[in-house]
Amino acid sequence: MDLYEYQARDLFEAHGVPVLRGITATTPAEARAAAEQLGTPVVVVKAQVKTGGRGKAGGVKIAKSPDEAAARAEEILGMDIKGHTVRTVMIAEGADIAEEYYFSLLLDRANRQYLAMCSKEGGMDIEQLAVERPDALARIPVDPNVGIDQAKADEIVAAAGFAEADRAEIARVLQLLGTVYGAEDTTLVEVNPLVKTGDGKIIALDGKVTLDDNAAFRHPDHAALADKSAEDPLEAAAKAKDLNYVKLDGAVGIIGNGAGLVMSTLDVVAYAGEEFTAKPKPANFLDIGGGANAEVMASGLEIILGDQQVKSVFVNVFGGITACDEVANGIVQAFQLLESRGEAVTKPLVVRLDGNNAELGRSILTEAKLPGLEQVDTMDGAARRAAELAAS
Ligand SMILES: Nc1ncnc2c1ncn2[C@@H]1O[C@H](COP(=O)(O)OP(=O)(O)O)[C@@H](O)[C@H]1O
Ligand SMILES: [Mg+2]
Repeated sequence: MDLYEYQARDLFEAHGVPVLRGITATTPAEARAAAEQLGTPVVVVKAQVKTGGRGKAGGVKIAKSPDEAAARAEEILGMDIKGHTVRTVMIAEGADIAEEYYFSLLLDRANRQYLAMCSKEGGMDIEQLAVERPDALARIPVDPNVGIDQAKADEIVAAAGFAEADRAEIARVLQLLGTVYGAEDTTLVEVNPLVKTGDGKIIALDGKVTLDDNAAFRHPDHAALADKSAEDPLEAAAKAKDLNYVKLDGAVGIIGNGAGLVMSTLDVVAYAGEEFTAKPKPANFLDIGGGANAEVMASGLEIILGDQQVKSVFVNVFGGITACDEVANGIVQAFQLLESRGEAVTKPLVVRLDGNNAELGRSILTEAKLPGLEQVDTMDGAARRAAELAAS
């Protein structure tokens, strides 16, 4: 999960990383009040969206009075930045910036370690710098079992070529950022810019943090950082039922067992859809996993049928440890379960069963005579039929 800048700021502050005060606002009036509360001669109104390049997009603006802060907030709220609508701004103290640096620490999966990147030329053009003058961006591997200790911090600031006089303080801040990385179970901590102010202070001015969702169980407090308003309602409902579901844009609902099978099902359906003028595409990814029992099947169908865009459903199951007859019984019971909940299945369903006990599974479905359910024996054939139904 990516955090908003203001959330990253709060995490930084909790671990002692020097940051500026900032207050969020969702209306111009709140922005004015926030600027008054900060009481500094200059504040900066910053769009809170989970994408970079806000400054260049006009989402970061200086204001020299509370009235100006309200006016800038009025301009920024509602703005679209790379497809993200701005619903919140942060009113931050204005910094007297002398120099802008760059620092990030990220998970380097390929090398099974962390990677620290640091440059004394940070700011808005860091991507360009990395391409045009890679030497100006120091890259230092970090042992995950050690993190950023004093020696590592010293190594990073030396490699980045900071002035002698600044090294000790920057190294101190990098160690604190390393603590944020480890203690909060993140996969990315990026500070751009890390600034030196006119009076020589080192401050994290912009923060980007990605939390490792696999470690969520260790951090009950992180759940509060999830942005419910930005979440897709179907994905949220699926999450509540522990389903592995991702909403897509098409009209063919997909249920399969095993992530690999579902991924290839998406491809096959997209390919089959090309044949029809409506060009139907997959409506979702949904992996019901190995133990595809009736309950899980019903929950999955319920989510998919709740998607207004869905016109047909393709259930693609390859029986393994959970055999096809169990899956077939699951489908039959799911139909009954949904009917008893007043949500009877009304959209056409194409089922392809293969693998362990496929014959038995197919005959169970044939005998059940479920309304709107068709069976096709091959994956390609079933995909084509599901696409055809969605296209008609
Ligand atoms: N609190 C602040 N005080 C002064 N200048 C700021 C402040 N916050 C950001 N800036 C300036 O705006 C630029 C862009 O802001 P930043 O927060 O890095 O957004 P983004 O990286 O999304 O463009 C920074 O490089 C800095 O020059
Ligand atoms: Mg930035």
